[in-house]
Amino acid sequence: MSAQEALARDLTRARERTLALVDFDDAELHRQYDPLMSPLVWDLAHIGQQEELWLLRGGEPARPGLLPADVEGLYDAFTHPRASRIDLPLLAPEKARRYCAAVRSRVFDRLEALPGDAADGFVFGLVLSHEHQHDETMLQALNLRTGAPLLGAGGPLPAGRPGLAGTSVLVPGGEFMLGVDAADEPFALDNERPAHRVDVAAFRIGRVPVTNGEWRAFIDDGGYRQSQWWTYRGWAHCVQAGLTAPMFWSPDHTFRTRFGHTEELPADEPVQHVSYFEAQAYAAWAGARLPTEAEWEKACAWDPAVGARRRFPWGGADASAALANLGGAALRPAPVGAYPAGASAYGAEQLLGEVWEWTSSQLRPWPGFSPMIYQRYSEPFFGGDYRVLRGGSWAVAPEILRPSFRNWDHPYRRQIFAGVRLAWDA
Ligand code: AVJ
Ligand code: FE
Repeated sequence: MSAQEALARDLTRARERTLALVDFDDAELHRQYDPLMSPLVWDLAHIGQQEELWLLRGGEPARPGLLPADVEGLYDAFTHPRASRIDLPLLAPEKARRYCAAVRSRVFDRLEALPGDAADGFVFGLVLSHEHQHDETMLQALNLRTGAPLLGAGGPLPAGRPGLAGTSVLVPGGEFMLGVDAADEPFALDNERPAHRVDVAAFRIGRVPVTNGEWRAFIDDGGYRQSQWWTYRGWAHCVQAGLTAPMFWSPDHTFRTRFGHTEELPADEPVQHVSYFEAQAYAAWAGARLPTEAEWEKACAWDPAVGARRRFPWGGADASAALANLGGAALRPAPVGAYPAGASAYGAEQLLGEVWEWTSSQLRPWPGFSPMIYQRYSEPFFGGDYRVLRGGSWAVAPEILRPSFRNWDHPYRRQIFAGVRLAWDA
């Protein structure tokens, strides 16, 4: 398959996913489930607007597009914060769908005209990543929705293996290559580049993410009532927000609500919907800490036997249902131990998929950073109040995920599909 054919296939799959997430009536698409989220119809048209801007207008908003300028302006994420998007005169769902389709057919014409494996393919990959990232955002919105469920309970997952929760693997100290170059990963986004040598002291890292069962022990031990486990800022937030358990847990900590389905909390599933502040407190209570980004990426991608990075933790093969829980169909993480074949060189499992994992690192550019055509993707967020999350959740499309992929959010956010993997000094 040529690079063009692969991009066309992936763009088509992304669009099928997007359309399935907005296959609801107009009133539903115009609802604001939570001030943290956009109405779904905003995400839909924004996906098309960004695709048109980067692929058909060379990133120049001054070049005329398919939408009148005032309508296009409604989909600028920087002028309109999420909480206010419900009040905008947004395109009706049918118009938004037609707009996205019109953009896409022109994009396919451009893709066909692409010379060979030209570096231009990068912008197609960027647009693909953008669409899938908004699909995950739409899933976060649907998860916050109250009322009878719109989505099913999710697809099947492999069983876990007992005895892994709370165990760790050793990552010996030494240099490794952090980040990637376009030569090796042509679709890597600006914040993943360039590759550079980093020395990391020996550490241990959780073999699997922290589970619901482990988190319940933290609650039962008074973790949410004892300031000693929290940073000053984390404790102030815990008190002010009245935190007593992860988001979506029942008051007795035995049930959780997920996409409108209330079900018993699976003890061996990675905990989800905890903030960075809670993750940090849990780690302190457990006698551990959160990994840094560099530690996380080394544990995920470095192969000490050959002194080089692997493309994925398990090696060079593309992700599959036997290697990782990705793509969104499950609508939940898999139990720990479900993917022994997906282990990294150091033996850590479920690094890609399941839950985004909070790291202790703030979002910063790698040395030698240079912004991509979408200059405001990363740069405006460097140095802000963000912590980096690694690994990707069950909702991430495998096509856009790499061990070097960096996500970020405010340390108090809980609606994202985020959990925890512990680390220890060795
Ligand atoms: C990288 C997930 C933090 O959703 O704010 C989507 C991705 N950027 N449109 C976000 C993004 C522009 C971004 N995150
Ligand atoms: Fe966006």
